[in-house]
Amino acid sequence: MQNFTFHNPTRIIFGEGQIAALDTQVPREARVLITCGGGSIKSNGVLAQVQAALGERASFVFEGIEPNPTYETLMQAVAVARERNIDFLLAVGGGSVIDGTKFIAAALKFNGEPWDILAKQTPVRDAVPFGSVLTLPATGSEMNNGSVISHRANGDKLFFTSDATYPLFSVLDPTTTYSLPARQIANGVVDAFVHTVEQYLTYPVDAKVQDRFAEGLLLTLTEVGPQALAEPKNYAVRANLMWTATLALNGLIGAGVPQDWATHMLGHEITALHGLDHAQTLAIVLPAMLTVRKEQKRAKLLQYAERVWNITEGSEDERIDAGIAATRAFFERMTVATRLRDYKVSGESVATLIAKLEEHGMTALGERGDVTLEVSRRVYELAV
Ligand code: NZQ
Ligand code: ZN
Repeated sequence: MQNFTFHNPTRIIFGEGQIAALDTQVPREARVLITCGGGSIKSNGVLAQVQAALGERASFVFEGIEPNPTYETLMQAVAVARERNIDFLLAVGGGSVIDGTKFIAAALKFNGEPWDILAKQTPVRDAVPFGSVLTLPATGSEMNNGSVISHRANGDKLFFTSDATYPLFSVLDPTTTYSLPARQIANGVVDAFVHTVEQYLTYPVDAKVQDRFAEGLLLTLTEVGPQALAEPKNYAVRANLMWTATLALNGLIGAGVPQDWATHMLGHEITALHGLDHAQTLAIVLPAMLTVRKEQKRAKLLQYAERVWNITEGSEDERIDAGIAATRAFFERMTVATRLRDYKVSGESVATLIAKLEEHGMTALGERGDVTLEVSRRVYELAV
């Protein structure tokens, strides 16, 4: 096992009816900016619950943080927050709203041009305190310090992390997910699955409990993912999915083990260029990535095939290929297509995707830094 430091300061408040707990979590004198997306929290009643819990506190709503949140929109929120003397942010929505709120929180305390936080990786030392009410199990943003922001004008999608951008608390009420469209449930399952894979399917370091936790998350997703599509109002299923997605990216399974993230970086470029959903890009890239890097990942691919997919027959290569095929079949079963052409993207895009990776310095990705632009090109080409 590798050395590590693990510290996660986010308080999780889990279960039906827990939005009411905002009253105990948000400072009584706070001036709160509620940040949200395109309106789902109005139609499903979540905003009304949040406002009821905040009671007499001064609160304002900033609406319109889009999926794959943009710098352009978030800077409008920064202006509103300054105008209203906001000192607490409350993100109510999915990963995009929470990621966007992390950026707003950091930008409000930042000296200089906030885009430098992404483009130049200028460290964020301080941020306005914020909490979240999660409505879409997928990204883990509710219990991590990462944020992925897009610059619409430049066609960039970049990430930052900072110790200052962990949510103080996140409320996870599984009933808020009942209104999710099937496409977003499917996306969430695929995203959480790939987060787990990025921290598990690398090379062995004899980290037994991290491996078994990761396998537990993957097995749970293969079980509850299809159920979540079939039975949208099954509380137990939604509760298990929600907690699994959080645990997939809150630092726990990634402590003391090598991490990959090449699939995510290649996926971000596809979203930036073609606008595909984040999870769609992962479903496209991961099977191709595992195929191209089969040798480097051989030991873990064999373990994955056996422990997650119960594949024990055949030669090593046959078992590895069967494990990758099972992964693709699972994404397809979740109704997320796994090839670029399924989304009307042709091989002609590969050159631009590679140029963008290069521009963003993504030239030595993966757990060993050996995913060069040439390897990435092979992955994109295989994914067409
Ligand atoms: O905008 P509204 O109206 O709220 O609708 C949203 C949006 O259209 C809708 N939705 C959310 N909760 C709902 C709901 N509709 C009905 N009922 C509900 N309860 O779902 C749509 C998608 O929302 P979004 O927040 O974009 O989805 P997701 O949670 O998958 O977040 C994706 C973003 O997170 C980033 C991705 O890159 C992408 O930008 N990621 C963040 C990570 C992190 N912070 O650690 C890691 C991930 O790898 C990922 O990169
Ligand atoms: Zn992701």
